Amino acid sequence: ESARKEGYPHFMLKEIHEQPRVIGDTIFGFSKDYEAAASTLASSGNIFITAAGTSFHASLYFSLLTARLAGKKVIPFISSEYESYANLANKEDVLVAVSQSGETIDTLMALRSFKERGCKIISLTNVIGSVISRESHLPVYMKAGPEIGVAATKTFTTQLTALTWLSSLVSFYTGKIGRDELSEIKGRIMKLPDLATRTISRSEGWARRLSQVISSRHSVYYLGRGLGLPIALEGALKLKEIAYVHAEGYPAGESKHGPIALVEPGFPVVFVSIEKNLERKLVGNIEEMKARGAFTIGIFGEQSELVSRVDERIIVPSSDELLLPVLETIPLQLLAYYAAVAKGYDPDKPRNLAKTVTVE
Ligand code: G6P
Repeated sequence: ESARKEGYPHFMLKEIHEQPRVIGDTIFGFSKDYEAAASTLASSGNIFITAAGTSFHASLYFSLLTARLAGKKVIPFISSEYESYANLANKEDVLVAVSQSGETIDTLMALRSFKERGCKIISLTNVIGSVISRESHLPVYMKAGPEIGVAATKTFTTQLTALTWLSSLVSFYTGKIGRDELSEIKGRIMKLPDLATRTISRSEGWARRLSQVISSRHSVYYLGRGLGLPIALEGALKLKEIAYVHAEGYPAGESKHGPIALVEPGFPVVFVSIEKNLERKLVGNIEEMKARGAFTIGIFGEQSELVSRVDERIIVPSSDELLLPVLETIPLQLLAYYAAVAKGYDPDKPRNLAKTVTVE
């Protein structure tokens, strides 16, 4: 096992560090299948997207991004809730099933029920030949390689990368953007591996230091707006999963409708900012938290105007809103990892959790 860890103390840390390479592999693997999936989506009736856990956060991101890039409505739902959505589905609709393993039973059940109703099924998985990919009409893949750590890391950022490309292709097939703009976007996505490498080296020390604070707290909030929301949700999930610190991801604007009641001096609140035009509103949310004595932490891109507003920050090396979701995930992964290590837990094998859940 120690050989397979290639010198890293845990698989999770190894997999975090593998991200630049596997994001590159995923980009290199953008195939004709992506184009077929996107053209199906562009001409479909309703689009639904479903997943569990971390894959759901990637799905929510796809829904938000496709609304922005392609003006297409995508209805995201948690797979185990499929009964509430399946009766909305018709023959001209498409379901996108997202699952790194391709084996999650809830996602498979959602897939089957939509398929029975005549929907086209597109899947995004990391495992060729997995049941979800076999049962879908149009399987597409990320190329993250096997993920051993129970908490998803590289499979999430490769999902984000794959779904960013899929969304861009939908925008092309709906006629929102032309071929030139599509290849310009591809060029931007291709910068991710290098930027991810730089983000990791920038985040390591920061995450180690801040994990000392986070690991001693009972509760942490992760707040975001727009495209920042799924990343905030994922940051909270990671911390909860492996460091056993209660963490809630929430829309920043909604935090005053409940969560803020718990905030007292020193309560850590992480703000994830992706979209420049939402920062003005995020400032208000930061101020609300600071007024209650919160310890504020920012995850920002370059050119963020929020840098001086928070107590602690990490700035990832880009201001490109299409790339920030992937890059801003990395410091959140490392923060959760080092918090787990600081508390003496094994981040690879969190209690009560399974890598793949095959019971409903
Ligand atoms: C389990 C894992 C999570 C994962 C979820 C969905 O809960 O512990 O890390 O996000 O299943 O898995 P999938 O393979 O469908 O993406």
